[in-house]
Amino acid sequence: MKMSELFAPTLKESPQEAEVVSHSYMIRAGMIRQLSSGIYTFLPLGMRVIEKISNIVREEMNLAGGQEILMPAMHPGELWKETGRWDIYGPELIRFKDRRERDFCLGPTHEEIITDLARREIKSYRQLPLMLFQIQTKFRDEIRPRFGIMRSREFIMKDLYSFDRDEADMEKSYQKMYQAYCKVFDRCGLEYLAVPADSGVIGGKISHEFIIVAPTGEERILICPECKTAFPEGREECEHCKTPLEETRGIEVGHIFQLGVKYSEPMRAYFVDQDGSEKPLVMGCYGIGIGRTMAAAIEANHDQQGIRWPWSIAPFEIEIIPINSKEEKIRATSKEIYSQLKDEGYELIIDDRDVRAGFKFSEADLIGVPVQIIVGEKLLKRNSLEVKIRTNGERIEVEKTSIGSALEKIKNNLVRT
Ligand SMILES: Nc1ncnc2c1ncn2[C@@H]1O[C@H](COP(=O)(O)OP(=O)(O)O)[C@@H](O)[C@H]1O
Ligand SMILES: [Mg+2]
Ligand SMILES: [Zn+2]
Repeated sequence: MKMSELFAPTLKESPQEAEVVSHSYMIRAGMIRQLSSGIYTFLPLGMRVIEKISNIVREEMNLAGGQEILMPAMHPGELWKETGRWDIYGPELIRFKDRRERDFCLGPTHEEIITDLARREIKSYRQLPLMLFQIQTKFRDEIRPRFGIMRSREFIMKDLYSFDRDEADMEKSYQKMYQAYCKVFDRCGLEYLAVPADSGVIGGKISHEFIIVAPTGEERILICPECKTAFPEGREECEHCKTPLEETRGIEVGHIFQLGVKYSEPMRAYFVDQDGSEKPLVMGCYGIGIGRTMAAAIEANHDQQGIRWPWSIAPFEIEIIPINSKEEKIRATSKEIYSQLKDEGYELIIDDRDVRAGFKFSEADLIGVPVQIIVGEKLLKRNSLEVKIRTNGERIEVEKTSIGSALEKIKNNLVRT
């Protein structure tokens, strides 16, 4: 991709409304734009990150046995009345009437919708266990939308629902999902904690929050410095080893719940078990905020100049920066390197614009592509290129002919497996 053709309107100054660095950088780097309070458009660079995170999530959900579906955003009010959540949910639920005066809402979560599907389609224990998921837009009229896409009113969430015969099997599904969530955040290159949590309005007994560790996070977590177990507030020492706990901060990006029969009982989602008896489906639900994860990744990985994307979720992997695009040799070499690395399978962007080198450098640092290859006159004289690793600030001189193998090494170091 050529920078001259990319639709990424960047800004020099931090927008006034941005209270946190991720919000400010996403706007400055031309990744998102606000339409209305808590409602955002993703521009190409932002969309590439959303796609990367979604694909990692999708792959891990499939590997864990999930099957992808897509449920509607528009929900009949009747279903929400069946569980009582039409009243419980309060003004966060966006309600409206259709032309026939029937109640509807925009889905903030999908327990009612999936349970309705399950009660119609799951008849026998032979159909269990079952895990269904979607990556879809949710609506919550938050009292205080803030921090950009971190707490917005319309946001992309992956939600998976598990159905089992009994509590013991549900716990197995829960464990599978717990492990899948660990893999998702590992693959995203993010440091995270799984913390036992309150189940809130979703309900059920056991739940865990997945928290990205970031000093700017709203969530306070207590961790045991000895055995690394994380605890919610209200404790002084570790349950396991009695070590005094230390406080850390982070951002909730995922939340998993053992629902049990909280929805299947009131909605009468029953199946016939092996012994012929009718039993309610035992459920679990599992959410990851895709946009929230993107924002948290920036909170955890940035410096004064801009974003430092983990390799696996960066909008591009390598940015080629010709210092002077008018210089024939620089231009030709940049093109040559671009096609070589493209053939090797990297995702590249080249800053082919006729602008000052300093401007290219500061924009590259702001956007935060993990590796920059700088093509300049001085090093070209000895057939070398400068490689700058945005992630750790390291700069190395690499011979032009060995750029392929050098990048392979750099990539292996940057990608967490
Ligand atoms: N307003 C929001 N904006 C962006 N992401 C959100 C928002 N609310 C929830 N999420 C994401 O969806 C995930 C699951 O939501 P859930 O646990 O049901 O919400 P909450 O913790 O707000 O009750 C959260 O962990 C978070 O990543
Ligand atoms: Mg939550
Ligand atoms: Zn401990």
